[in-house]
Amino acid sequence: MQSRYPETYAQWKANPQAFWAKAAKAVDWIKPADAIFDPDQGAYGRWFVGAECNTCWNAVDRHAAMRPNQAALIYDSPVTGTKRTLSYAELKTEVAALAAVIQDLGVRKGDRVIVYMPMIPEAVIAMLACARIGAIHSVVFGGFAAKELATRLDDATPKLVLAASCGIEPNRVVTYKPLLDEAIALASNKPESVLLLQRPQCEAAMQPGRDHDWTAAVSAAKAAGRLADCVPVLATDPLYVLYTSGTTGKPKGVVRDNGGHMVALAWSMNNLYGMQPGEVFWAASDVGWVVGHSYIVYAPLLIGCTTVIYEGKPVGTPDPGAFWRMIAEHDIKVLFTAPTAFRAIRKEDPKAEHLARYDLGGFRALFLAGERADPDTVQWAEEILKVPVIDHWWQTETGWAIVGNPLGLGALPVKHGSPTVPMPGYDVQILDEGGRQVGPNTMGSIVVKLPLPPGCLPTLWHADDRFKEGYLSAYPGYYNTSDAGFVDQDGYLFIMGRTDDIINVAGHRLSTGGMEEVLASHPDVAECAVIGVKDALKGEQPCGFVVLKAGANRSPLDVEKEIVKLVRDKIGPVAAFKIAITVNRLPKTRSGKILRGTMKKIADGDSWSMPATIDDPAVLDEIAAALQGKV
Ligand code: COA
Ligand code: AMP
Repeated sequence: MQSRYPETYAQWKANPQAFWAKAAKAVDWIKPADAIFDPDQGAYGRWFVGAECNTCWNAVDRHAAMRPNQAALIYDSPVTGTKRTLSYAELKTEVAALAAVIQDLGVRKGDRVIVYMPMIPEAVIAMLACARIGAIHSVVFGGFAAKELATRLDDATPKLVLAASCGIEPNRVVTYKPLLDEAIALASNKPESVLLLQRPQCEAAMQPGRDHDWTAAVSAAKAAGRLADCVPVLATDPLYVLYTSGTTGKPKGVVRDNGGHMVALAWSMNNLYGMQPGEVFWAASDVGWVVGHSYIVYAPLLIGCTTVIYEGKPVGTPDPGAFWRMIAEHDIKVLFTAPTAFRAIRKEDPKAEHLARYDLGGFRALFLAGERADPDTVQWAEEILKVPVIDHWWQTETGWAIVGNPLGLGALPVKHGSPTVPMPGYDVQILDEGGRQVGPNTMGSIVVKLPLPPGCLPTLWHADDRFKEGYLSAYPGYYNTSDAGFVDQDGYLFIMGRTDDIINVAGHRLSTGGMEEVLASHPDVAECAVIGVKDALKGEQPCGFVVLKAGANRSPLDVEKEIVKLVRDKIGPVAAFKIAITVNRLPKTRSGKILRGTMKKIADGDSWSMPATIDDPAVLDEIAAALQGKV
């Protein structure tokens, strides 16, 4: 089939407002927009200004009317041996009852609610219940430590925290409640209430007055027939704030609006992922990440698909056939995950022998994102699955794909190593350091010409200046993605890596700057540097170098163990910080800048050249020697 991509992209380019006005027909509006786009609002303009809507209505209520008995959510939890399906009608009741409980706890439109929950249906219900009453949710991933949660409590200043007693990792029960209690103790902003779901695997202690039992409260609301209605909000009102790593330890609160978000996600489900209402879509991620927000929760429900909540891993729960079982058992048409999941499966089952146990006849495509999709893994997935394997590139900030291969419009030929072409809405360009556009096959900074399309962040939570400085100031008139790469002669984009200190560990975005802040806080550490080094499974893993204070008189091994524990305690297990190396000094330029890039090349075994500005070339030999046997 001839792809409709070229004409679709051209239609957008010719008249962006007409393009998005047409796409907006997929959404029920309470009041239509006064302007599809107003260039004078916000940092670079705002979409659907003046429109009123409700995201929960569009994701739940209208489908509960049209397709009440169709499954909305399938929960499949190999770590607890539980499965549960909720129809759209059931989902609506659960969401409306929880929304009433949240209102009873004093939460109103515009108030923030932190959601700190594992991959269970109640996490999705919590997000939708907030959306229903116009409260702004901020989901915090369970793998973060108490201090990270405390930072978010202070930045988002929530009135309420919705939490569960625990999450289940294959090797342990992660008790969330003590982490939450510690975070609240650390935070200057204390939420008024906690609504806690007690899971059978772990009964958490409750603090009288502040903590309320989720199950009892929701049952009481249902018994009393207390179901909250959808509250109209402006299209430009925030739906959620999602914190993501910045260049310092202070995370950035990415703001997502209601109207543009719905329009962009609905467009992407049909045109990029090729999904139709009634079909099953599975994003194997976590609601704590943007992939989970967009493609576990909102996008599939917005178009009336069935979505899947998987509480498990690609391997070990119980075996590397877990994903194939899921696809066969739930008739999943499209799977979206991070390449690391496929590297994990391949490592344990290189010949994909587990696949023979399942019928994947209905499976149509695999989408990969979150980190570089290495050609080797893509090729392996293509060979074993015999369906299109589609890399696409985006960020927490954009909320949906910047560049992809639109299956719904007819896929373009795949080039391994490239996520293919810009989606409508994105004018992607490559600029040199002076801000000039470069020609094909020339590396540069990847930028998007403003305005960004619907769905992308309008700003950072209560930090308009940080937004402008961090994203819009480097290249005036453009959004700086902080990724570097090039466009080839056919218009295909290639992503080569970040231009800042963000690293990608198992598809999780982490700040080495944030880790350095933790290392530097150790009393015996004089200086430190953290770099991301190549890892066959996780893509990258962090590696920390420390110089001990003169006279510290400590065993380097002990300090190394302590800083590994410190990062786990302060940032969380998700940082996967396992390599700490003590060195006598760090390689620096004559002006004192640590040569992290060269250290990374040495650690990765890549070719490197001696930086002209290096202070003492011998230090690099010391670094190479210290790395022996560690990476
Ligand atoms: N709550 C608490 N701890 C968590 C957690 C959660 N929700 N998620 C992960 N962790 C912990 C893990 O248990 C692990 O702890 P450990 O050091 O005690 O073993 C640590 O955080 C690192 O987790 P992870 O990077 O996920 O490594 P892993 O070895 O447990 O699993 C993969 C590796 C590849 C199987 C896993 O990363 C995976 O399934 N990735 C799929 C893709 C994905 O989810 N991408 C997200 C963005 S799309
Ligand atoms: P996150 O905000 O967690 O989604 O991380 C976004 C970053 O992950 C991007 O800026 C890229 O550096 C990286 N990334 C995401 N998807 C891809 C991809 N398909 N190819 C290469 N890098 C990617």
